[in-house]
Amino acid sequence: MDAIRLRGARKLEGTIRVSGAKNAALPILCATLLSDGESLLRNVPGLQDIETTAALLGVLGRDSTVSIPEVRVHPATRPPNPEAPYDLVRKMRASVLVLGPLVARYGRAKVSLPGGCAIGARPVDQHLRGLEALGARIQVEHGFVVAEAPRLRGAEVVFDIQTVTGTENLMMAAALAKGRTTLVNCAREPEVEELGRVLNKMGARVEGAGTSTIHIQGADELEPFDHAIIADRIEAGTFMAAVGAAGGNVLLEHAPLDDLEPVVVKLRKAGLTIDREGDHVRVTRLGVLRPCDVTTAPHPGFPTDMQAQLMALLCVASGRGVVTETIFENRFMHVPELIRMGARIETRNNTAIIEGVPRLSGASVMATDLRASASLVIAGLVADGETTVRRVYHLDRGYEAIEKKLGGAGADIERIHLEGEPP
Ligand code: EPZ
Repeated sequence: MDAIRLRGARKLEGTIRVSGAKNAALPILCATLLSDGESLLRNVPGLQDIETTAALLGVLGRDSTVSIPEVRVHPATRPPNPEAPYDLVRKMRASVLVLGPLVARYGRAKVSLPGGCAIGARPVDQHLRGLEALGARIQVEHGFVVAEAPRLRGAEVVFDIQTVTGTENLMMAAALAKGRTTLVNCAREPEVEELGRVLNKMGARVEGAGTSTIHIQGADELEPFDHAIIADRIEAGTFMAAVGAAGGNVLLEHAPLDDLEPVVVKLRKAGLTIDREGDHVRVTRLGVLRPCDVTTAPHPGFPTDMQAQLMALLCVASGRGVVTETIFENRFMHVPELIRMGARIETRNNTAIIEGVPRLSGASVMATDLRASASLVIAGLVADGETTVRRVYHLDRGYEAIEKKLGGAGADIERIHLEGEPP
């Protein structure tokens, strides 16, 4: 079992390239199911979740060639098999994103219902209710959701809660529905907007992606596409928080500054200097690291996917910071591990109060989910002595070669293999 070993504390200096966005690549890969032709995705990050999605497309009848940073999804030459198995869906919840495209394209879909995960129960009721509004007959049986509709038809769908993949699933379903669909109270994340761009390239008419109301004029048939994925704002934000915690001066190549406004506002408050340099962003922290308070919220609020990384930074800020998590009910799994490294954190329900300490101390810690593992890597960058982050398979789901990228900016970091380590 792999682990990441770090020896802090060193300032970060140099250049780090930001990869393509995981949370844009996954729905766009699923959108390839809407057309029988060959689609090409560029700037795709080399992540476990990409491999899992390619495997899922294969099971559904679409072969692909993954040669990072490109993924080529080949034309549909085999009869479709619109059934997404438990074994793949349990590995990656985002597999639920094949539901909309499958029922829209083939009139039927059987998808293993994603269970809960470390950060929360994460139901998909909004996805199912939306598809029902477009005329699908939905049944949940034996752990699967079965959706059937000879042809989906346009309708108005009002989401009870802003859901990123729920909005994306309905956008893809509506792209092949008969007539016009209006989605209300949509998620406004940049990845949703990016999917809108791709669906328009395929011939659907999507207006308002990135706003809370999206209109989609369905098409009878959609075209394949060739598209370069946007850069990953959460990966870029993670590196900004790392520079903030460790200090230093780093150029983040292709960092999507416009998509990171809510994060940048807080990091500047904490004492970082963040400036655009052409297509890149320079991040420096040379002076005192100040605390700040953060409440997570749907975009354009502070992203929940940056909460853990910011908490790691606040662990070494000079004063008290308060973090409130409003999206997921169980997203403080990193707290006990940070406390094991000497952090002073008190949690009450969905709020954590962080008293900054001068230094953390290195320790063996356990990753519990993707962003929690990133926060432990940041803590290891600033801790005295050695830190070993275990279960880095969580990290590999969302960060491409993080040890090489941070190592290239001067961190003392390596990937090691721990014999006999339980999964
Ligand atoms: C997406 O998950 C992201 N994943 C998550 O990133 C991210 O944390 C999340 O959006 C919020 O920004 C991908 O894009 C692949 P939601 P998603 O539906 O779509 C509740 C990462 O670290 N809800 O927007 O699954 C839900 O329980 C991952 O990269 C319902 O109640 O999240 C949550 O409390 C982790 N019913 C809230 O809405 C539903 O039908 C927002 O969830 C759907 C959601």
